[in-house]
Amino acid sequence: MNTPKRYTVTTALPYTNGPIHIGHLAGVYVPADIYVRYLRLTGNDVAFIGGSDEHGVPITIKAKNEGVSPQDIVDKYHAIIKKSFEDFGITYDNYSRTSAPIHHETASEFFKTLYDKGEFIEETTEQLYDEQANQFLADRFVVGTCPKCGNEEAYGDQCEKCGASLNATDLINPKSALTGNVPTLKETKHWFLPLDKHEAFLKEWILEGHKKDWKPNVYGQVKSWIDDGLRPRAVTRDLDWGIPVPVEGGEGKVLYVWFDAPIGYISSTKEWAAREGKDWEPYWKDEDTKLVHFIGKDNIVFHCIIFPAMLKAEGSYIMPDNVPANEFLNLEGNKLSTSKNWAVWLPEYLEEFPGQQDVLRYVLTANAPETKDNDFTWKDFQARNNNELVAIFGNFINRVVVLTNKYYEGEVPTPANFEAVDEETLAAVKAYPDVIASSIERYRFREAGQELMNLARLGNKYLADAEPWKVIKVDEERTKTIMYVALQIASALATLSEPFLPFTSEKLKGILNLEKALQWNEVTTEDVLLPASHKIGKAELLFSKIEDETIQKQLDKLEASKKANEAANKVVEPQKDTITFDDFTKLDLRVGTIIEAEKMPKTKKLLVLKVDTGLDVRTIVSGISESFKPEEVVGKQVTVLVNLAPRKLRGVESEGMILMTENAEGKLVFVNPDEANIANGLQIS
Ligand code: 2FM
Ligand code: ZN
Repeated sequence: MNTPKRYTVTTALPYTNGPIHIGHLAGVYVPADIYVRYLRLTGNDVAFIGGSDEHGVPITIKAKNEGVSPQDIVDKYHAIIKKSFEDFGITYDNYSRTSAPIHHETASEFFKTLYDKGEFIEETTEQLYDEQANQFLADRFVVGTCPKCGNEEAYGDQCEKCGASLNATDLINPKSALTGNVPTLKETKHWFLPLDKHEAFLKEWILEGHKKDWKPNVYGQVKSWIDDGLRPRAVTRDLDWGIPVPVEGGEGKVLYVWFDAPIGYISSTKEWAAREGKDWEPYWKDEDTKLVHFIGKDNIVFHCIIFPAMLKAEGSYIMPDNVPANEFLNLEGNKLSTSKNWAVWLPEYLEEFPGQQDVLRYVLTANAPETKDNDFTWKDFQARNNNELVAIFGNFINRVVVLTNKYYEGEVPTPANFEAVDEETLAAVKAYPDVIASSIERYRFREAGQELMNLARLGNKYLADAEPWKVIKVDEERTKTIMYVALQIASALATLSEPFLPFTSEKLKGILNLEKALQWNEVTTEDVLLPASHKIGKAELLFSKIEDETIQKQLDKLEASKKANEAANKVVEPQKDTITFDDFTKLDLRVGTIIEAEKMPKTKKLLVLKVDTGLDVRTIVSGISESFKPEEVVGKQVTVLVNLAPRKLRGVESEGMILMTENAEGKLVFVNPDEANIANGLQIS
């Protein structure tokens, strides 16, 4: 498109059924925020639009599980999510929610317009029904095998494994997520958007029009859906949580969440415009507006096929110029998962790394899953912080500021003669805005972030080579030039780092005492980026080293999640064959106290225990060494099977067995008497 007059940038509206984690931030929100901050710094008119997706089955399910209302759930998580975005510097112009009245009105009107224009097919079909729950099974209320890829956990509207968009009746072996029952079929009326009707348009617009500028992962997915042939898609549901269907016959039905959610972008824009005294319509209807949707790959079909078909059917809207969807971020080799608590939640991150939002923004950008799924590891997080942010960016700024204060009481010195290396360095600095911009404009944020770090590298190398701390002893004039050049680089970094490291950029502007930092293009066009005689402030550390113990704590937390998850998923062993009462009375179970414990040499699992059974003090070898240190078990009262035939383990005779089980975290625990100080030897019956 020609130079746009304005930009409308949207980010997927997160479901308000939990907090957000690093996967969301890396895939959608950080890249969008980098893009928008860059656009603002280059003087563009931008509406950066977000909000919470508060309808849909996941929210109803969560409410049901917690015994509260869906409204309670969305109120709670909308506040948490909104705060996370603010905390991480995601600079929305408006962050709304789909339960807002303006959204209900906008979505209802949109539906009515399409209805009045005859853009829907109204049809009574057989849909999956749970007789026990007395409910139709739409979307996530039903799970079954994906007919496309065989994934056994596909939902009624989508398979998250292959991304296929499904109708619930497409699922093989469907099961109700409510009761586990096999659903029956029951007739019900719904409104369908005939995607097939828009196929020719979609082909021309995307397959012909965006082959070159859309990311291959997005283009490829869209092409394969279009090539498969598009079918009518139901846009209403028999549910009670959502926006009521606003036409005759729609009683008791709501709009499909994926019909109302993307309209949320429009209603959030309206809310913003009303507050700012602006007109919302050009941001959605003027051909000179560049509309960009930032999403994750599981949302591609909705943003590239269904929502555009809705907009086309309505008739007065523009199409997105690009949908730069990212792939998924994994965590330490495994898929991020809310239910398995395999995630780094943003509120928790902030508690544990207060003030270090930029570190996470930087690492997630450096590792963004732009072309393929990618892995976040805590070791990499530590390495990028210590070796790049601290050792390169932070170190450069610190040296410049400390030396300027030391040599010139904080005043930018007047340069003497520029040598070739100075001229080359300044010319290289001036090239960075374009280099970084070119990556950002092509949605290559990893590359852009690395270019920013290259600028800091350039500064670091310049100082390391020029060695002003040595030159000062022999040539004061030369030192002034070196420090002047280094300060110009610092000023460029203050501006160019803003999209990526907004908190650091602010801090750096404070340190450099910049009332008004440079605009993006001024880094190239201005001869002087920080004038001689300008007084800078004192040095402050921009980043600090992250120690191994801090990282280990995070790894331990994940390990605990893994164990808890394994324990929760442990299949309960079936009951063993019945025994008689006489069989039971043969077991002699007693209360005992562990009085000594030591590790069995050359083994991983075994502890050798001395146990006071009340009858005697005997040796018992127990396989608990991976769960307990010897000193932790001494003094514990335990349940002992005392008449188990003795047996030798690694040469030590074990005379009995201590009863153990696992707790909810999967940790071994003693089956011990619940009252302390029971006399040893007391029989358990
Ligand atoms: O996948 C999700 O989390 C959806 N709630 C995204 C919705 S995007 C938009 F259309 F609102
Ligand atoms: Zn599938």
